[in-house]
Amino acid sequence: MSKHTSRAQPAPALMQARLRRRWGGAALAAAFSLFALSIAWHESHAPSQQSTDELPITQARADDAAQSPDAMLAGPAANGDLVKRGEYLTRAADCAACHTADKSRPFAGGLPISTPFGTIVTPNITPDPDTGIGQWTDVDFLRAMHEGIGKSGERLYPAFPYTAYTRVTDRDVLAIRAYLNTLTPVHYTPPANSLKFPFNQRWLMVFWNMFNFDEGRFVPDPKQSAEWNRGAYLVEGLAHCEECHTPRNFMQGLKSSARFSGAVQAGWHAFNITPDKTSGVGDWRRDELVSYLSTGAAPGRANAAGPMGEVVANSTQYLTPVDLRSIVVYLRSVPPVSGGETRPRHQWGNPAGDVTALRGTTITGVNGAQLFVANCASCHNWTGEGVGASAPGAYPSLIHNSTVGANDANNLAMVILHGVSRTTAQADVLMPAFGGHLDDEQVAAITNYVTKQFGNPQATITAGQVGKLRTLQ
Ligand code: HEC
Ligand code: HEC
Ligand code: HEC
Repeated sequence: MSKHTSRAQPAPALMQARLRRRWGGAALAAAFSLFALSIAWHESHAPSQQSTDELPITQARADDAAQSPDAMLAGPAANGDLVKRGEYLTRAADCAACHTADKSRPFAGGLPISTPFGTIVTPNITPDPDTGIGQWTDVDFLRAMHEGIGKSGERLYPAFPYTAYTRVTDRDVLAIRAYLNTLTPVHYTPPANSLKFPFNQRWLMVFWNMFNFDEGRFVPDPKQSAEWNRGAYLVEGLAHCEECHTPRNFMQGLKSSARFSGAVQAGWHAFNITPDKTSGVGDWRRDELVSYLSTGAAPGRANAAGPMGEVVANSTQYLTPVDLRSIVVYLRSVPPVSGGETRPRHQWGNPAGDVTALRGTTITGVNGAQLFVANCASCHNWTGEGVGASAPGAYPSLIHNSTVGANDANNLAMVILHGVSRTTAQADVLMPAFGGHLDDEQVAAITNYVTKQFGNPQATITAGQVGKLRTLQ
């Protein structure tokens, strides 16, 4: 084990902390050194009250209908009921993930999002005139989604993924708006942001945008199929998969040279989903990827927990099979990126051969194997092979599972701490959270037993790292 430890990469949680510190320093320096320049730039480029997108909704609709490239991107119910289409698109864009903090107040905001610069709280986007966006015009709404500019011309923070939504056609943005208009207005003002200086200066986002924001609608590639274009449109725009799966640069912008190659956020590793056969999902079959996105499970490959479980439950499960296939066709075509792994995440592990020695023994101290048998084996079996592993909602095998075979143990520890809760049309999937009654040392011991026995033995975690992960969600 010490051999592994000495070769191990710094654990992602640790790296993240280091990155944060580095980001803090670099950003401060950058912010201040560019201060003077910024004033000049900002003065001459202040967002004009009249944006170029300023079209009355009827005009935008007429123009949209005439735009033939957009017709290529049109999805289900393209010519059907506007509000229905808007609801579908709102799900594809997963607006609820951030704007619904409390299920009794849908879309009324209030979710704190922690960023390296402090906490940003999501606003109320119900049609309430005082606390929501009831008084916004369609033009205001288009400008927010496409340019990241709020109603009074203020710069919005990129925790709101306008960097992706800028790709979405006017037609689709207005359909989303039409759907949001039909929601029950909720009178609720979320708590204020708590960002430290200089990050509480919204205009600084002018700089951030200069380096990290490429404003503009999706342009279909005529050399590619309609299916590919629809997939690219969804992935790069509404579904904003890159927000989690693409690593970030020191300014927290997306690293365009390593798209989809995986990133750690709030303790969860959003894995490499490029078509690389060893580091990515290149050896998954298409129907396995479709199944993962529609149900959250691809037996023998992976299950969706944490943020991805939410993406499946709130968003991708509602997409039509045609849209899911388009997403997969597009994902298959992005450049493969190797992370240096020697074996695919889902190809690790052997069933435990003999735990009879553990049976009936009393648990003393912190023994991962004993703790596993006591806490996990009732569902996953002492062999780790699970129960009914290919049925929806089964207790999955821990062998050939990407979370257990990943080269870091973050997600496994997070799954133990927080459990799994994912409701789809197929099943109510529930694994209890153990964070409440297992301490950091016990969680680390089970994690290390599980990766060693059923997964990638190089992935280990310390009690200290578990303690850090605990604070992240
Ligand atoms: C990943 C989280 C996230 C997602 C997904 C998200 N938003 Fe937001 N949104 C935010 C945050 C955070 C802010 C506040 C930004 C700020 O304060 O500068 C915001 C701000 C907004 C605003 C500006 C509101 C105001 O009062 O200034 C609008 C409008 C908005 N979002 C609409 C949407 C819509 C529509 C969707 C889906 C298409 C969506 N958001 C998806 C996080 C998100
Ligand atoms: C909010 C963050 C987030 C977003 C947005 C997101 N993902 Fe994920 N994704 C994750 C995390 C975290 C995991 C790992 C889940 C786990 O270990 O259970 C993951 C896992 C996956 C996996 C399984 C990889 C493996 O080897 O286990 C696939 C495939 C995937 N995501 C595809 C997508 C696609 C396609 C989109 C856009 C439609 C998307 N994701 C959007 C966070 C996200
Ligand atoms: C009450 C039954 C139950 C118990 C007890 C239980 N699990 Fe689970 N486990 C589940 C279910 C259900 C899932 C989710 C299956 C799915 O995603 O379709 C799951 C998923 C998992 C996954 C896969 C997560 C992913 O993202 O791929 C791992 C790893 C896991 N459990 C480990 C454990 C460990 C370790 C323990 C003991 C600390 C444990 N489980 C205890 C039922 C259980």
